[in-house]
Amino acid sequence: MPYKETMQTKVAHSQTMTPAVIEKPMLEALKGRVAPRAPIWLMRQAGRYLPEYCALRAEAGSFLNLCYNPSMAAEITLQPLRRYDFDAAILFSDILVIPHALGQGLAFVEGEGPQLPPLEKLSDIENLDMAGFEQKLAPVYETIQILKRELAADKTLIGFAGAPWTIACYMLHGRGGGTFDRTRQMAAADPAGFQTFLMHIADVTARYLVSQIKNGADTVQLFDSWAGLVPDSDFESHIIAPTKHIIDKIRAAAPDVPIIGFPRQAGKHYAAYAHETGISALGLDPQADIQSMPKNICLQGNLDPEKLLAGGDTMRRAALDILQAAEGRPFVFNLGHGVIKETPPEHVAELAALVRSYTRTV
Ligand code: CP3
Repeated sequence: MPYKETMQTKVAHSQTMTPAVIEKPMLEALKGRVAPRAPIWLMRQAGRYLPEYCALRAEAGSFLNLCYNPSMAAEITLQPLRRYDFDAAILFSDILVIPHALGQGLAFVEGEGPQLPPLEKLSDIENLDMAGFEQKLAPVYETIQILKRELAADKTLIGFAGAPWTIACYMLHGRGGGTFDRTRQMAAADPAGFQTFLMHIADVTARYLVSQIKNGADTVQLFDSWAGLVPDSDFESHIIAPTKHIIDKIRAAAPDVPIIGFPRQAGKHYAAYAHETGISALGLDPQADIQSMPKNICLQGNLDPEKLLAGGDTMRRAALDILQAAEGRPFVFNLGHGVIKETPPEHVAELAALVRSYTRTV
C-alpha cells in the first residue's frame, strides 16, 4: 500500500526534523524561572479524599501492598492528574519505606497511623539490613519507570524521601501522633551517637534518592515534617547538617536535578536552612510568611489545608493572597501540608482552575 507508506515516511520525517521540545513548567520554576502562570501540585494529592484511591486501597488490602505494587502505585500516582490539570505527579509511596526496607517492622493501623517496633538503642542502626535495602525498594523504582513512560511530557515527576530527623522520629519512637519524646530524649542523652545515627540515615536516603533520579524522577522532595520539634540550639546538627549531606551526595551524582526541602514549622530557621543546605526550592508550611523568605530561591506552598477543606470564598481569598505575595519570584503553588481526607474533590478542582487562571507579572 504505497499511500500508507508515504504517510508513514512523512510522519517519521517530520518527527526527526522537528523534535518537539516540551517544557515542564514546574521544573523551570524550581530552576528559578518566573513564568506568567504558577505551576501547581498538592502534597497528598493522591489519597483518601479521592473515591478512586479508596477503591484501589480496598482491593490491595493494605497500604504497604499498594506502595510495593508498581502498577497500582503508578495508577494511584496518576489519579489526581486525570481529574485536575496539575503540573506534577508525586510518586505514590511513603517516607517510612526506608525503615521498612532496612528491616524494621512497619504496620499502618487503620485510624492510628504508622506503627514501628522502636529500635532499642542508637547503635542498632549499624545492624540493619543494608544488603536487602535496594532489593526491597526495587518495586518503587519500577513504579517510577512506569510513570516516566505514561506521564505527558509537560508534567514533572517528583520523587521523595523523609529527611533524617523525621525518619529518626519514627524509628526511635515507633509511632506518630505525639511529640516523639523517646527520640528527643535519646538525642539529648547521647548527642554524638545521635549525630552518627542521623548521618547513617542520610547516607541511605541519598542512595535511595539518587536511585529514584536514575530511574526517572525529575526532582525530589525531602519531607522534614517534624523539624518544628527540634530545639533552636540543635537545628544546625539535627536538620541542616544531615540535609546538606544528602544534597551534596545527590548533587555529585545528578548536578542538574533540583531538590525541594520542606522543613515543616522551621519558623525562624527557614532562611538558614535555605542558605546552608544548598536546597533548590523551599517548601513552606501555612505559618511561613512568603514575603520574608530569602529572595534568591524558588518557594513552594503554602495554602492552609483547612482553607482547601472549607472551600468557597475562604479558599479563594487565601489562594489569591498567596499568589500576590509570591509575585515576581519563582514559585510553585501548593498546600502548606497534605490534603485532609475529608476535602471535597470539587474544592481541589476549583483551586486548580483558580491558580491556572491567575496571570503573574513577569
Ligand atoms: O503526597 C502524595 O500524594 C504521595 C504519597 C505520600 C504519602 N505519604 C501517602 C500516604 C507521601 C509523600 C507521604 C509522606 C509522608 N508519610 C510524610 C511526610 C508528609 C507529612 O504528611 O508530614 C509522613 C510524616 C508520612 C508517614 C505517614 N504515612 C503517616 C503519619 C501516615 C498516617 C497518617 C494518615 O494520613 O493516615 C501515613 C499513611 C499514608 N501515607 C497514607 C497515604 C495516602 C494513608 C494510608 C491509607 O490509605 O490509610
